[in-house]
Formats: sequence, C-alpha cells, structure tokens
Amino acid sequence: MVIDIHNHFFPAAWPDLAERYATPNWPWIKHTEPGKADIMVGERFFRHIYSACWDPDVRLEEMNRDSVEMQVISATPVLFAYDRPVEHALDCARLFNDAALEICGRGKGRLKSLCQVPLQDIDAACAELSRSMRAGHLGVQIGNHVGEKNLDDPGIVTFLHHCADEGAAVLVHPWDMMGQTRMPNYMMPWTVGMPAETQLSVVALILSGAFDKLPENLRICFAHGGGSFAFLLGRLENAWHHHPVAHGACQFPPSHYLNRFYVDSAVFDQHALQFLVATMGDDRVMLGSDYPFPLGEERVGALIRGSRLSRQAKEQLLGGNAQRFLGLDGKASETKASGDATSAAELAHPTGEQLTYSSYLKIPELLELQQPQSSPQHHDELLFIIVHQTYELWFKELLHDLDAVVANLQAAGAHPGSRDEVYEAARLLRRCTEITRVLVEQFTILETMLPTHFLAFRDKLEPASGFQSEQFRELEFLCGLKDEKMLRYHKPTPEAHAQLERRLRDPSLHHVFFEALRGLGKLAALPETATERERFDARARAVQALYQDDRHHRDWIDVCERLTEFDELVVSWRLRHIQLVERTIGVNMGTGGSTGASYLKLTLEKKFFPELWEARTLLMK
Ligand code: HEM
Repeated sequence: MVIDIHNHFFPAAWPDLAERYATPNWPWIKHTEPGKADIMVGERFFRHIYSACWDPDVRLEEMNRDSVEMQVISATPVLFAYDRPVEHALDCARLFNDAALEICGRGKGRLKSLCQVPLQDIDAACAELSRSMRAGHLGVQIGNHVGEKNLDDPGIVTFLHHCADEGAAVLVHPWDMMGQTRMPNYMMPWTVGMPAETQLSVVALILSGAFDKLPENLRICFAHGGGSFAFLLGRLENAWHHHPVAHGACQFPPSHYLNRFYVDSAVFDQHALQFLVATMGDDRVMLGSDYPFPLGEERVGALIRGSRLSRQAKEQLLGGNAQRFLGLDGKASETKASGDATSAAELAHPTGEQLTYSSYLKIPELLELQQPQSSPQHHDELLFIIVHQTYELWFKELLHDLDAVVANLQAAGAHPGSRDEVYEAARLLRRCTEITRVLVEQFTILETMLPTHFLAFRDKLEPASGFQSEQFRELEFLCGLKDEKMLRYHKPTPEAHAQLERRLRDPSLHHVFFEALRGLGKLAALPETATERERFDARARAVQALYQDDRHHRDWIDVCERLTEFDELVVSWRLRHIQLVERTIGVNMGTGGSTGASYLKLTLEKKFFPELWEARTLLMK
C-alpha cells in the first residue's frame, strides 16, 4: 500500500470570499485555459496550478502512473486565514473541508483528506476538528504558527491534545514565513524560510516540554522532512548539554523525543533522505510529495524507491508508517502506553503484513552478523564472535540508560525540590548494575574455549583488539574517565572517532552528579585558585555530608550506593577480563599491541567515582 500523506487540492470554484466577508485579499482561482489556472490572492498572482488540483480523475490517472494507491489531500496553506476574524476563518475552513470531502467522494476510495481549522480560536478549532472527523476526514493540517504563537502556545497544545483524543492525524505545514522582507527574490521564503519555520516548530514543541505533557498517542508529522531539524539536531543537542539556558523545560535531551513525531520524505535528495532516515528511524519517515505543485516530487515515490534503503524500510516509508500515522491500521491510537509486548510489537510493525517475532526482532539480519574469518571455520570462533557481540549489545543498553541517568540528574540538579528524577536515576542505575553483573559472569562461557582453540584463529584478528571497542571507551568517557589518548585506536573508524570526541566534550555522569549536589547546596563553590586535590576533597566531603544526613537524603544516598556498586562491578569486569586473558594467552602481548595482562592490570586502579570511596574513609574519622 503506497500512501502519499502530503499533497494539496484546490477546488475548481468557491464563493467570492472577499464579497462574502466584505474584506479584501482573499485567495481565488482564475481559470486561464482548459485544465490550467492561477491561484490569486486579491489582485496578486500566487501560483500556476493545473487540473490535478481539483479533478479527481486526473489525480487518479497520475497516481496510477506513479503506482500510488492512496493520497491524503490537504488544503493549500494560503487558505488557512489564521489572521482573519474567527467567524470568517471558520466559515472558510468549513467550505474547504466540505469541498475536500466532495473531491474524495469521487476518488474511488483512494482519496482521503485532512481538514483545516481556525487555529486562532482554540474552541472553534476543536469544534471544527470534531465535526470534520465525524464527516470523514482522517485528521487535520495546521500551519506551523499563528502569528507570533508557536506550536508550544498553551492554546495550540490544548488543540493538539484534542487531536489525540479525537484520533486525528496532524500534519504541520510551514506557512507565513519569517524574514520575508529579507527574502524578496528567488523563492527564498520557500527554500530557506519554510525549512527554518518547521525546525522552529519542532524545537519549540521539544524544548517547551510540550511533548512531556502531550499524550503519546498524538500522531503528528512535520512536512518537508521536518525542515532543517534533522540536520541541525546535533547543534541543538550540543546547546542543550552545554548551556543551561538552552535547556528549556523538557525532561530529556532533544534526541529523546524523535519517536514522538513523524516527518515526510519531501527532501528531494538521496543523501538527505538517507540521513533523515538514519536520524529519525525508518519508522518515522513517510512518503510526502507536495504534489501537484511545482515544488513537488515529479514522480511521486521515486526518491524512496530509488534509494539504497532496505526493502523493508522502503515499504515502511512508502506506506506502512502512513497507515499507522493515519490510524488506518485498525487502531485508533498508536500507543496506549500499555507497555505489553503485543502492543509494542504492533507499534513497530505498521504494514498490512502481520508482524512476527522474527520481523520485529530482525532475527534474520541478526543471524547474518556472525562472520568467522577462519577457513576452514574453527568451531569456537563462532562462540568468540557471539560473546563479543552480546557484550556490545549490553554496552549499547548501558549507554542508553546512563544517558538517561545523566538527563535525570541534570533535571534533579535544576529542581532540587523535586524527587522524581532522583528516584528515576536510582532505578536506572540499578538496571546498569544488574547488566554489569551479567557482563562479569559472561566471561565464564568464553573460558570453555581452550587456549589452543583460540590460537587456531587468533592470527586472523590482528590488529583487531578490545582497544577498539568504541562503546567501552564511550562508557568510560561518559562516566568521567576521559582519556584523549585512547582516541588513537579509533583512527581507522572516523564515525567512532567523532562520536568519542563528542563524548569527550559532553558533561560526564561524574560531572553532572556533583553539579547536582551543588544545586542541592551540598557542594560549596571553591575559589578559582583551588587545587585539584582541594576540589576532590570538597566533593568527597559533600558525599560524606549526604550520608551523615540520611534522614533527609535517602534518595540521594541511594543514587550514591548505586554509583558505588556500578564502580565496583566495572572493576570486577576488568579483573575477570584479565583472568580470561591470562588463562587464554598467558602474559603474551595483545593483538592491539599492548603488553597484555600486565598492561590491563594497571587499569584496575581506575574508578569512575573515587570521591564516593574516599567519603567512606572520611566517615570513619
Ligand atoms: C580470548 C578472549 C580475550 C582475550 C585474549 C583478550 C585480550 C585482550 C588484551 C590483550 C587486551 C589489551 C589490549 C591489546 O593489546 O589488545 C584487551 C583489551 C580489551 N578487551 Fe579483551 N580479550 C578477550 C576477550 C574480550 C571480551 C569478551 C571482551 C568483551 C567486550 C573484551 C573487551 C576488551 C576491552 C574493552 C579492552 C580494552 C580495555 C581497556 O583499555 O581498559 N575482551 N583484551
């Protein structure tokens, strides 16, 4: 099922709005020759259009040409009328909403529609949305702002709530572009202003904390690939982590919210599409063409079909995701937050074909990932690969959870009165310690491999080495052990190198934890001239003070205990790894060029949170 969720209609005729409301400069259609027309705004020319805008037969023919099964049509933003008196805008919305249904009625079941609403008046907007949903629309198209109000305006957030309640899909379209006096030429309001408008809307919804408040079953999509949002997400994330003022009111870093909205595929470039899918995920991008306007995709769907995405990803982008977005997958809402396995599975697989255990977990792809190098294949090489891969999977989960711990502790530091984030940090840290416990144990499986078995394929590994485990180093950097020298092992993999450089710059868990204690009033500011030793002692004393006041700080003590346990378990991991190394290769050099076990023994001294250990000494004094 190929569904185009972003394309526009324009009825062949409608009443003279200027006369109807006795105000000038309303849009109207001027037919110039058979099948052709101009959209006019008052006396000003706006755009050439052709019969596909109003004639369902022409649309269907072109849909057949492009192998598109369904189009979801929406009005042209020039009709929004958000700057008009609400009674005019409401009347106008009704006119075009009814006209849309009339066109769909002649579309042989292949045309569906999104309504428009007078968004300058939230009550009227909600009422028209409900009326339209009852009449057969699948959702609503809204402009990305109403005058000076962005989408995080409390009234608009209320409207979005209402959309979620009504099960209405929301398509956000940029309009009334910023900075137009500086962009009088070259269609720059469309090529520069529109992407910036859309980015502004996404950022406003995230940073205002609106996504934290809006229900998870809200289905909202941003046109034109979400504008400049995806490309500048790194910049946003960087600001969020480094400048408290850029934090806004959201609970988590901006990238946390990527699963709360969709974008369409109208980016017109293979690299851009690839990047968009890599950023948003292949379950968040949907075919949107901007058909039949001049800036639309000429052959609808060609960009996705001609991409290097997997067959399954293409299917999702071409229609599967849209079915979920539009509520055509048999469910009114996409998440009921039930958390049970079935609904999670349903969510992840929107297409008509039934989800299976295997397709959800991508088992075929997973089982393709073990590629032994020995030839003929040595029996134990498969074990060697699988054990390492499972470690890396768990490292991924640890990074995922520890990033959330950082965000929670940052929030806790910013709001010392609130305890929710402290509890959440402690809960997630408990998960991290449980995972690490498993990681310590897991070495025993590899110890069933004889040293001679390892030697049978070891020469194939050189110079691959645990030194090159990007995620292990990320974990160290994230927790606070930042050693720039270790970057040299990642020179052969520029992406890993860049990611580690980012981790070096980002605030560590260690830093965030003590900043939170500062926010709590436990860690006094020291003069600029204070030595590193004096700073260390001050941090240890702050922890000591927490423990000594356990009547008031049970929650923070719990966090300290979890961090200490995590530290302890990572040292256990290092120790068990050394034992494995000695048992397998004795005191020989490693494939990464180190002195092997004797080098690794030096790492046993490493601690993420030495102050937590020092505090124990202080408590006894
Ligand atoms: C037969 C099994 C193994 C042997 C002989 C072995 C050997 C070594 C050696 C000698 C080093 C030091 C660097 C070098 O010169 O290469 C090292 C580092 C490392 N290995 Fe292993 N290893 C084994 C299994 C594992 C497993 C299962 C993991 C799990 C992820 C792992 C993760 C690491 C990591 C992360 C480092 C870097 C440690 C650091 O820099 O502190 N190794 N390994």
